Amino acid sequence: MSEEVKLRVSQIEKSFPGVKALDKIDFSVRKGTVHALCGENGAGKSTLMKIINGIYKPDSGQIFIDEKPVQVKDPIQGQSLGIAMIAQELNYVPEMSVEENLFLGRLPVNKFGKVNWKEVRQKTLQFLKEEGLNYKPDQKLKTLTVSDIQMLEIIKAISNDAQIIVMDEPTSAITQKEVELLFKKIGILKEKGVSIIYISHKLDEVFQIADDITVFRDGTVVKSMRAESTDINEVIALMVGRKMENVYPKEEIKIGENLLDVKDLCSDCLYENVSFHLQRGEIIGFAGLVGAGRTEVMRSLFGLDGISSGEVLISGKKVCIKNVSSSIKNGMIMLSEDRRRYGIIPVRSVMENASLSSLDQFVYGGYTHRKKEKTTVGQYFDKMNVKTPTLNTSIRSLSGGNQQKVLLAKWMLRNPDILILDEPTRGIDVGAKFEIYKLMTEMAKAGKGVIMVSSELPELIGMCDRIYVMCQGRIEGELHKDQFSQEAIMKFATGTC
Ligand SMILES: Nc1ncnc2c1ncn2[C@@H]1O[C@H](COP(=O)(O)OP(=O)(O)OP(=O)(O)O)[C@@H](O)[C@H]1O
Ligand SMILES: [Mg+2]
Repeated sequence: MSEEVKLRVSQIEKSFPGVKALDKIDFSVRKGTVHALCGENGAGKSTLMKIINGIYKPDSGQIFIDEKPVQVKDPIQGQSLGIAMIAQELNYVPEMSVEENLFLGRLPVNKFGKVNWKEVRQKTLQFLKEEGLNYKPDQKLKTLTVSDIQMLEIIKAISNDAQIIVMDEPTSAITQKEVELLFKKIGILKEKGVSIIYISHKLDEVFQIADDITVFRDGTVVKSMRAESTDINEVIALMVGRKMENVYPKEEIKIGENLLDVKDLCSDCLYENVSFHLQRGEIIGFAGLVGAGRTEVMRSLFGLDGISSGEVLISGKKVCIKNVSSSIKNGMIMLSEDRRRYGIIPVRSVMENASLSSLDQFVYGGYTHRKKEKTTVGQYFDKMNVKTPTLNTSIRSLSGGNQQKVLLAKWMLRNPDILILDEPTRGIDVGAKFEIYKLMTEMAKAGKGVIMVSSELPELIGMCDRIYVMCQGRIEGELHKDQFSQEAIMKFATGTC
């Protein structure tokens, strides 16, 4: 493996109002290697990557490519310097088509500046064929799933002939099979001498593909090392600054009466005959491969999409779920998996985002009781360790994981009876995951019920009382605690039982 340094940054500093995101960062990536960046939410990983890619300008410091100093003014210039990036937040325009997205910033134009759409179409078709993707070039992005869009972003970055590719949480929304495909592609890129900077909170993935690992904490580099000379425990300890024991704070809780009964729920073509129940004090899991229909079932339950037949009972009483506000009235809330599309209001402050659906708690005689709003929101933020300079900071300036925690706080404020969490720990660091698990346990202890949809089998096994496994729109199996194992889940998930 090469010792040659492809990219080096020296003494990079960057501040945002109220926070020093990066403090004198020195960091280098070798040619033809995968360099993983690890660190808690808000440690500064994405900020450094955005500086390398030209989205942000550093306050001071220098970037070198092949030991030559460079200035990256914007991502287009980044592209011409051979830098490509798969961003953490999928910032797509829903109305944009697949081909427009693929050629964004590099549309072929003639000498009069007119776009050659015929060429775009041809290249897109060829490209989709090569990659084995069956989307139509003029298909709008809003018709694709999060996983499709993420795969498109990955392929777009790879196709750019870049020498340095930044992947910021590339596997947060893709299937296991796609992860394997991505890792194969990374292997090929490495052989071609491409350097890859890989950011992930999934440390097992990091150890699978990284040659080097750098750990960030609070805007500084704690340590850079060869992957073979360290292990997961050391990386976690370096990230959080302490040793973590007992990752899953699951407690024995007395299970009460039925809180939710779902009977034979059907939707035209997304799922069929889905029946399950949730009791007070329970945490139940929904496992399955991406596309198995778990999110679709939860969306219907929460009133986001309709059903074609079936019954839902809450505490034994039949309810008619018409829309989200009727579900919320029935004591049900849901943290959606695609937080960009359904979750945050980017321009609003973290406090407004958190208190938005609970304003009734703070309004008296037509006036909002700001102090109460502030204290209550503040309490939840403390509990969940939300890292934000102030409550008035706009949510879009928070790190990815911290945005997630704000959304969870928003729902916790409603004190729901039934909490549906769709991939709640995606993109969240180990410390914050623990906080979320603790909250789930607290909810269960208070006699409420939690449904967790997750693709992380260890967390399902660690936190749930029962697990339902879905495959192709049906519940294929139900596992009780003494039957839990990754193999048992995968058998049902792949329909090989
Ligand atoms: N545009 C911005 N405006 C203000 N503050 C910002 C902005 N971007 C990032 N920050 C702050 O800089 C710090 C570092 O954020 P960054 O997004 O780099 O973290 P991260 O390591 O990528 O975290 P995560 O694992 O959650 O993605 C955070 O405190 C964040 O709130
Ligand atoms: Mg980030």
